[in-house]
Amino acid sequence: MKALDWSNIGFGYRKTDYNVRCRYSNGKWGEIEVSSEETLNIHMAATCLHYGQEAFEGLKAFRGKDGKVRIFRLEANAERLQSTCDGILMPQVSTELFREMVAKVVTLNKDYIPPYESGASLYIRPLLIGTSAQVGVHPAEEYLFIIFVTSVGPYFKGGFSTNPYVIIREYDRSAPLGTGRYKVGGNYAASLRANQLAHEKGYSCEFYLDAKEKKYIDECGAANFIGIKDNTYVTPLSTSILPSITNRSLQQLAKDMGMKVEQRPILEEELSTFEEAGACGTAAVISPIERIDDLERGTSYVFAKDGKPGPVCTKLYNKLRAIQYGDEPDTYGWVTVLDI
Ligand code: PLP
Ligand code: COI
Repeated sequence: MKALDWSNIGFGYRKTDYNVRCRYSNGKWGEIEVSSEETLNIHMAATCLHYGQEAFEGLKAFRGKDGKVRIFRLEANAERLQSTCDGILMPQVSTELFREMVAKVVTLNKDYIPPYESGASLYIRPLLIGTSAQVGVHPAEEYLFIIFVTSVGPYFKGGFSTNPYVIIREYDRSAPLGTGRYKVGGNYAASLRANQLAHEKGYSCEFYLDAKEKKYIDECGAANFIGIKDNTYVTPLSTSILPSITNRSLQQLAKDMGMKVEQRPILEEELSTFEEAGACGTAAVISPIERIDDLERGTSYVFAKDGKPGPVCTKLYNKLRAIQYGDEPDTYGWVTVLDI
């Protein structure tokens, strides 16, 4: 492989040597295959292409100071994929199969895991698609599960720094009883216009209110919202947001730091009461929010007057990263260690 400038890579696709694949047919999963092909040969009438039978996951592997590799919350990602499978009628991938394939693809591509000092990581992208040819709207009978990996740096340019967001009312990402709680491609297709609009207006990302009433906070682009005030960690309770594994982990760490944690509906107006706010997810861990503008109301909710991340977000960010890189003990069994 070509040497990479590990400390300056962004969040994007970079070719690695191998991916792993497993096919489902006749009601069961087959053997794990190792491939060096970056492309797929699938039927033009595959259900993933027409009816969106497609699910994905995103998790990361980190190289520690001790040289070991740590995969963060593998089981939680497997469980979320299983929930997505139920949501769009695809066969579940068992946690055992998921674990074996993740360990295999990370091991095969171990040269692509960025060194500890770089602060970069290996992003793991599992993908499940319906492959059988069908023209009627029904679930497929055959599926392909693939996992590829790619070396990544920070999701936003500039890494751990604050970003401006804008409330977009023109487009919804997902409906209350829709697929927002599942990690399916359609949700991201539905977010592209809003994201483009936010960029055109000079913002880093779009911010969604609930689709039904447009009163409550929903998601922050492709991340969950967290707000901090009065030693309390507040995050939305909503059926249309993705249950973020980073958010769940941060809630635990916040409790460990003696904070109260509340998961409940958050009215837009409550934004004015938060001392700090952040967008959380695997890609960014926490991306502190500088401000959220509501252009229609002419309101700007400002969280970082000096443009600097707040103390609570910084502490949570550092704590989670320390567990991921193995600098601090993994007291909750979140980490799968590979000696490779
Ligand atoms: N919300 C959306 C829409 C996402 O795509 C993601 C990323 O996976 C998240 C939230 C954060 O979830 P997690 O922390 O599990 O990566
Ligand atoms: C995340 O990992 O936080 C994401 O939102 C992933 C994104 C590239 C879909």
